[in-house]
Amino acid sequence: DTIFVLNGPNLNLLGLREPEIYGTDTLDDIAGMLEDRARELDLAIDMRQSNHEGHLVDWLHEAQARQAKAVLLNAGAYTHTSVALHDAIKSVVTPVIEVHLSNPHRRESFRHRSLVGQAARGTIAGFGALSYLLALEAAARL
Ligand code: DQA
Repeated sequence: DTIFVLNGPNLNLLGLREPEIYGTDTLDDIAGMLEDRARELDLAIDMRQSNHEGHLVDWLHEAQARQAKAVLLNAGAYTHTSVALHDAIKSVVTPVIEVHLSNPHRRESFRHRSLVGQAARGTIAGFGALSYLLALEAAARL
């Protein structure tokens, strides 16, 4: 089984971008960590990043078409704005787990509303790179 791990805008800069908030691990570091754990769980990881909202929508559809076991989605700032992502999550049967490095509820008020979270199966946030690993543990048990 494959787990899609979809990352939205600015996450390509992870490790350099506001490290006091997001940590120093890069997206490649996180991919490596997920792949190590996935191997133990007999799962495969398909990790992607895009700065474009529509790519994330297309990949959610692709996850369903490919019968992915689950999607881990860190939609970045689109979390707080994207009706298209909200609808895409609702449009597929594939379970989607919302992931954030930071805890948006401790931050600016514009991050307190999540359109992704209002459609996702569940949310893991606030644990840095570990949020992804915890989400993988959840996905493996669905
Ligand atoms: C984020 C939180 C979002 O509010 C922000 O726009 C991001 C990263 C996180 O992983 O903590 O880009 O999704």
